[in-house]
Amino acid sequence: MTKRSVRIAPSLLSADFGAFRQAAMDCIEAGADALHYDVMDGIFVPNITFGTHPIAALRRDFDVHFEVHLMIQSPERYIEDFARAGADTIIIQPESTVHLQRTLALIKQNGKQSGVALNPSTPLNVLEYVLDDIDHLLIMTVNPGFSGQKFIPAMRTKIADAARMIESSDKDIVLEIDGGVTADNAQEMIDLGATALVSGSGVFGYPGGVKCGIKALLAAV
Ligand code: DX5
Ligand code: ZN
Repeated sequence: MTKRSVRIAPSLLSADFGAFRQAAMDCIEAGADALHYDVMDGIFVPNITFGTHPIAALRRDFDVHFEVHLMIQSPERYIEDFARAGADTIIIQPESTVHLQRTLALIKQNGKQSGVALNPSTPLNVLEYVLDDIDHLLIMTVNPGFSGQKFIPAMRTKIADAARMIESSDKDIVLEIDGGVTADNAQEMIDLGATALVSGSGVFGYPGGVKCGIKALLAAV
């Protein structure tokens, strides 16, 4: 098995919300390449998490790449707010907006990297005519809404298909996996073609805490 460079992005959704700043610092100190920030509105997904204020507060203290994953209905309403709050990459779900291309263009107009996250049942071909508009493709390997769910096995084929699609497009698009990623399956994700991994419960729930979890994940890839 070949060792490849991969970006590790711990999901703050699994952090202790009473110690958010410490959690972000622990992730950075342990070698995380980015912080994954899951925004949920209770409509697009059943859960509600956080908005722009926590990321703006973290942004003041940390010079790290923030990827904001918007699991909210009509995300076009909040692109400017998250751009201003300090997001570096803004990832939207095509199932949540009627005007996918327009919303991706809005992210770019705000000077940010644009990303698309696909629900497990959403086919890759929704991206066929927007590949010029995306920097980042996130394959959801659980149904969005909660951390701690099990990786859906059928997503292996989708990851490999997505990697092939990106390769044949000749574009520089990050292929990230989100949902049920742990040190045990991280190398398999990379072998399927992933170039970035999100992990929530896999790192925050690791024995010894998040620093040990990130180190275990980094050692596994
Ligand atoms: C789920 C979120 C994920 C979540 C991953 O809707 O998009 O980013 O935090 O958590 P784990 O790694 O525990 O599946
Ligand atoms: Zn996410």
